[in-house]
Amino acid sequence: MSTTEAVGTKERIGRILPEAIAAIHEVLERHRVTEEEWYAVLRFLTDVGRADEFILLSDVTRTSVLIDAMSHADDDAATASDVEGPLYVEDPPWREAPVRIYEDYQGIEGGEVLFVRGTVASTDGTPLPDAVVDIWQTGPSGGYDIWDERQPEFNFRGRFHPAESGEYEFQTMVPKPYTVPTDGPVGRYLEAVGQHPWRPAHIHFKVSADGHAPLVTQVFFPDDPYLENDTIGAVKPALVRPLERHEGSERGLDAPFFTCDFDIRLRPQAGGGAGKAAG
Ligand code: BEZ
Ligand code: FE
Repeated sequence: MSTTEAVGTKERIGRILPEAIAAIHEVLERHRVTEEEWYAVLRFLTDVGRADEFILLSDVTRTSVLIDAMSHADDDAATASDVEGPLYVEDPPWREAPVRIYEDYQGIEGGEVLFVRGTVASTDGTPLPDAVVDIWQTGPSGGYDIWDERQPEFNFRGRFHPAESGEYEFQTMVPKPYTVPTDGPVGRYLEAVGQHPWRPAHIHFKVSADGHAPLVTQVFFPDDPYLENDTIGAVKPALVRPLERHEGSERGLDAPFFTCDFDIRLRPQAGGGAGKAAG
């Protein structure tokens, strides 16, 4: 962020905050909120900060989805953006072709192999082989690597470059729906407001390339029980991609596998984010 933008942000926040406080005062007055109730709110917010759950709170209150929608104009030519969530881990390993983003672990049994493939290109169709594609997702059981001690560090995470043609493919496993963390203050919030904690199965993508606006998005799959009812409200129809089933013999595998096609289109941007330089 440039100094000018930083000053602009500070000034805008200075103007917006009094309005936000006035809106909160209006609700407090309308409900005749008591001292006891207000201190409970303050204790809750303190707990959210201590547990480092403010991004999670922003997500489950669907504030992140609102900010995403206002920040990324509808643009049919570019791939739709989506919320990042709090579970990205910096500096994931670089994966070489043929890219496979997981290692076997106890608990993987019964998981279904998935090849995600497509092209990374500018909105005019020019391939972007220098792009960085960064993926994170849950495995078929146990959720994210950071929650599941059976999984090696950075399992179901990794980054890579597409081929010169812009084509990419990575091997993963079909993710499953999971619940956002519920053992902290945000879990108490969800219970208090009667909101379930489930997210539909998805794969996160962060894609950057020189001269292009960086993209953060997610891919979802049809027929998921939480597709219409994601606790963070992040499902966009354009990001729901079919899974196609194949016989294992097509790729020398001993069990059937799935493919999912997902082409990525980045919007050109003057002074846009770095591509290969990031690696
Ligand atoms: C996630 O998809 O990783 C996520 C998003 C919002 C809250 C928690 C998790
Ligand atoms: Fe996720």
